[in-house]
Amino acid sequence: MCVTIEKLSVENIEELIEIARDSWKWTYACIYSFEFINHWIDENYSRERLLNEITRAQSDRDIIFLGSFVKSKLVGFIELKTEADRAELLRLYLKPEYTHRGIGKLLLLEAEVIMKKKGIVQCRLLVHQKNNIGKSFYEKNGFEVKDIDADHIVMEKKLQSIKNI
Ligand code: ACO
Repeated sequence: MCVTIEKLSVENIEELIEIARDSWKWTYACIYSFEFINHWIDENYSRERLLNEITRAQSDRDIIFLGSFVKSKLVGFIELKTEADRAELLRLYLKPEYTHRGIGKLLLLEAEVIMKKKGIVQCRLLVHQKNNIGKSFYEKNGFEVKDIDADHIVMEKKLQSIKNI
């Protein structure tokens, strides 16, 4: 399977919302009701908000927003927010049928290359305590559990900056 990783563009917004909704239902079915999930997606993945974040990412500002594509179709995405030498991994979601094929790792690796070039030395994220697939994925990719924040686990990974090399 040929997978490419590219910066997201405005044309990807509708597909992205669809992936987020499907992935949330697949991932959190035992945690949240579908009504809650639909409401969450409508609020947090509004077209206006995505347009703003994609624009910031395209101009290399404080957002990194990448998509994974198979035969030109979007199948997953990763979004991070950067501030000085720190980053927060906000979202990493794949279409459920494309999970467990190494695509999440590819997205994360590409994001890490960009972070290192920007001088980021630490990446942090929150993953739901009951999201065993997410937690296991991050542990296998070098993240360590640092704390518990209500229903979520706080994980961190140290990165080696290559900014001034
Ligand atoms: N069943 C069990 N384990 C899985 C599965 C699955 N279907 N998919 C991925 N994993 C985990 C395992 O640890 C696996 O290791 P293994 O092969 O030794 O079992 C590892 O991930 C495989 O790595 P990849 O193939 O690179 O993972 P993938 O491409 O599936 O990407 C991701 C991982 C992004 C978590 C994906 O599975 C996904 O979209 N899951 C649902 C959404 C989600 O939970 N996102 C994270 C939310 S937290 C946040 O965004 C900050």
